[in-house]
Amino acid sequence: MRTPIIAANWKMNKTAAEASSFTREFLAQDIPSGVEAVICPPFTALEAVMAQLRPAGRANVFLGAQDMHWEPKGAFTGEISPSMIGAAGCSFVIVAHSERRRLFGETDETANKKAAAALAAGLTPIFCVGETAEERDRGLTARVLEGQVRNGLAGLAAEAVSRMVVAYEPVWAIGSGRAASPADARDAAALIRGVVAGMYGDAASLGLRVQYGGSVDPANIGGFMAEDGVDGALVGGAGLDPVKFARIVALGR
Ligand code: PGA
Repeated sequence: MRTPIIAANWKMNKTAAEASSFTREFLAQDIPSGVEAVICPPFTALEAVMAQLRPAGRANVFLGAQDMHWEPKGAFTGEISPSMIGAAGCSFVIVAHSERRRLFGETDETANKKAAAALAAGLTPIFCVGETAEERDRGLTARVLEGQVRNGLAGLAAEAVSRMVVAYEPVWAIGSGRAASPADARDAAALIRGVVAGMYGDAASLGLRVQYGGSVDPANIGGFMAEDGVDGALVGGAGLDPVKFARIVALGR
């Protein structure tokens, strides 16, 4: 059985002090067992969130980063390495969010290097895929998702892939208030698992957790979680509010 996983991607929001009060308030909410929660603050707030999580000792609340470089160290001004985020307490790292792809030149190739480097460093990648509105209108959704999975997850160990998280985030649904339908999320999850099964076998594809992301909120999370093969959500805007995020986590069980 796959454990559901709900992650908050804060993007470029919250100072360390704001992150600290969010985490305190989030931990004060009713967070049931049987679901994993991941908080992904900006790099500058990783330590502040961890400083609250560590003493709380909650086995199902984790820290994640929003990105990282694939090299272990060196002359890469402005970048952060896998071991740096690991040392800051991260268990997860978001890889190839569509904003990284669209605004910062992330490609399937760099995404693939990051996925491999994250796994090698003992981090679980939350690997993002998703089609744009234009690609969807042109009937290319399946082809785009297949390419992103095939290229992004190439050359990994099957056992490692079985522990990964893939987030299906249609670009048009992100921050738009216009979520995809639960059926769309179910179909995408099935497609992703089909491609992974072809690459790495059934055990990898059945172990892998698939999230839906794009305008998830407390009102629509239940519909996504009711779908076969959808194992959680990657939450942007609604993940900035500790009460709302806790409600989504609780409903994500
Ligand atoms: P949103 O963002 O929930 O604000 O649509 C989701 C994401 O970008 O991960």
